[in-house]
Amino acid sequence: MSQRETWTSRVGFILAAVGSAVGLGNIWRFPYMSAENGGAAFLVVYLIAVALIGLPAILAEFVIGRETKKNVVDAFRNLGGPVAALIGVLGLFTGFWMLSYYSVVGGWVIQYVIGSLSGAYFADPGMYFGQVSEGTGTILFHAIFMAITIGIVAAGVEKGIEVGTKIMVPSIAILMIGMAAWAFTLDGAGAGYDYFLTADFGVIAENYQSIIPDAVGQALFSLSLGMGAMITYASYLDGDDNLLGDGISITVLNTFVGVLAGFVVFPLLFAQSIDPGSAGAGAVFVSLAQAFAELPAGGIIGFVFFLVLLIAALSSAISLLEVVVSYFVDNFDVSRPILTTGIGVMIFLLGVPSALNINTFTMFDNIASNILLPLGVTLTVIFVGWIYGGGAVAELRRGLGKNSSFGPVWLWHIRIVVFAAVLGTLALSIMTFMSA
Ligand code: TRP
Repeated sequence: MSQRETWTSRVGFILAAVGSAVGLGNIWRFPYMSAENGGAAFLVVYLIAVALIGLPAILAEFVIGRETKKNVVDAFRNLGGPVAALIGVLGLFTGFWMLSYYSVVGGWVIQYVIGSLSGAYFADPGMYFGQVSEGTGTILFHAIFMAITIGIVAAGVEKGIEVGTKIMVPSIAILMIGMAAWAFTLDGAGAGYDYFLTADFGVIAENYQSIIPDAVGQALFSLSLGMGAMITYASYLDGDDNLLGDGISITVLNTFVGVLAGFVVFPLLFAQSIDPGSAGAGAVFVSLAQAFAELPAGGIIGFVFFLVLLIAALSSAISLLEVVVSYFVDNFDVSRPILTTGIGVMIFLLGVPSALNINTFTMFDNIASNILLPLGVTLTVIFVGWIYGGGAVAELRRGLGKNSSFGPVWLWHIRIVVFAAVLGTLALSIMTFMSA
């Protein structure tokens, strides 16, 4: 079997991880959640959730990956035996499952990129969303998105994922900053900022029982935790980098893109006096499309916006596929391009029902977001806290110094605070799932 690949640089690893984290969740879910839950006050709660839960949890995945240098299944097996390996199998399954419908959304976005140039959605944005999101055309664009994802992953960790995300992630940041600057010049910008950021601590005092777990859940989802994406990416590290430093860079960049998205989305909507409505795919695809339709030169702005969304979706999709591909590349003597194509085609087929029916799509998403991911995070945290334990501390200390006191503090924090938070999130998610 050929030598296992590694990132060519620390920046390559960081950008790949940011590419995984920054996705559709940052661009619509996050701004809406903030706006509806107390604006800047929510942002404070979210930042605390990222620092206290998201960051320690991402480090838990990093140490598993870097110590074992294995795909998600063999990583858990190496550290904890055959029963622990089941956590990895769950991750593999989740990657397969999530990408099937994530790619369907990717296909919608491609149609919006094209539609911005052709003006296809200008006359009736609501109707266009209906056309784009269900039917044979949807299958075609789902196939195109999957083909691009396969192409990048087939090219390998260095030449595909690392090169790809080194272009994609800076493009996302630059285009978003450009759009936020442009949005600042719009007439409705002030009202948009108010809607997004006016701090209302009263909302939080009243609804903290739901807002705090929502913020924790969003932090975990946004960092792509719970299915082995970060384990897999960290498995391509060699050397003794400071993982804490990497984790901080990744979480800060991820939050930055979410906040920037709010600075784009709300000024745009308020400039056209469009009711931001409620969170959901409809927000981006219907309300924003309406704003682009009404703005002078809106087609160009729409093109750039949906292009950013497409890049963000793509750089997340490749990490979902890599989790699965990595397992097969490590275990079978078949070339990466062939394995990637075979797995990609199966994922494409699993996505077809979601492309034909938006209710199926919603069900797939509900199962992944509310069950599979929170379950994966909880099991990972239990595993690192109680089984891997001291080994995890030693691995973390490799970049921090042998006697760094951060290591044991982190472990106890994982065992108590992170564990309680992820368990609470899991319980709540299951309740959400039951009532959905
Ligand atoms: N983090 C992604 C976003 O914000 C979504 C996501 C959740 C994800 N889990 C993942 C992406 C695992 C890739 C891998 O949109």
